[in-house]
Amino acid sequence: MYRCPICNQPLTEKEKSAQCIQGHSFDRAKSGYFNFLIKNQTAFRGDHPTQIDARRRFLAQDHYLPLAQRIHQIISSALPSVLIDAGCGEGYYTHQLKKRKPACEMYGFDISKDAIDKAAKSDRNIHYCVSSVNRLPYQNQCADIITSLFAPVDTDEFARVLKKDGRLLVVSAHPDHLIELKQIAYEQVTKHQHKSLDSDVFSLMNMEEFSFQLTLTQPDITHLFMMTPYGFRTSVEGKQRIESKENLTVTAKFILETYQKYL
Ligand SMILES: C[S@@+](CC[C@H](N)C(=O)[O-])C[C@H]1O[C@@H](n2cnc3c(N)ncnc32)[C@H](O)[C@@H]1O
Repeated sequence: MYRCPICNQPLTEKEKSAQCIQGHSFDRAKSGYFNFLIKNQTAFRGDHPTQIDARRRFLAQDHYLPLAQRIHQIISSALPSVLIDAGCGEGYYTHQLKKRKPACEMYGFDISKDAIDKAAKSDRNIHYCVSSVNRLPYQNQCADIITSLFAPVDTDEFARVLKKDGRLLVVSAHPDHLIELKQIAYEQVTKHQHKSLDSDVFSLMNMEEFSFQLTLTQPDITHLFMMTPYGFRTSVEGKQRIESKENLTVTAKFILETYQKYL
């Protein structure tokens, strides 16, 4: 499944390491993951630890379980035997999918070592690694489906690792997602524009909106805010208004797009 991120030769996995024929070797961390990020490949190290921690605490309360269940329904129609969760963070959704599809071989990667360490510790049945989305450590045409939930997409790399007719499920925030939270944090709310993938290697098979309401108390309100990009783009006053909110009903709204690989 894995290929060497330096020379692209297949990697042979052993208990404590993975090696290729050229002698490149990668140690397995105690928690079970591999770090395939090559030195100087990128200075970007993924989400900030505060964001990772807020997301882990919020998701652990299963507030977004309806989304995980909907994702499971969608991927089930593709009958996958190998799934890769791209930019999987701390692996909340990867774990939820593995629980529902134990026979499916699951892989997850993220550029954040902190997030992958947490993911690997929480589910030993998933193959986790640290990697950038732009240089995947997987062999050509090895996966039936790639899920990308609120994470960057590299269409060329995804097309390379997907099997013929493989599918890509992209989940992103709807422009109205958490609008109530934004109205508290900002004087003026600007909505982002949703953009589908512009790709000549994938075609859009299905697009749906999925939403539900959540009634939250503290500290979940603050964790939810801090796990979004707004957590780092808000004034001190805006953050204080969020932190002092005792109860809040918010609309979680998502766009789920299923793409099929051409050829
Ligand atoms: C909003 S989080 C979503 C995490 C997870 N999919 C979830 O929904 O819980 C986006 C994730 O993408 C990761 N990420 C950002 N840039 C990346 C890149 N170039 N390669 C791989 N992962 C990346 C971040 O570290 C972060 O964990």
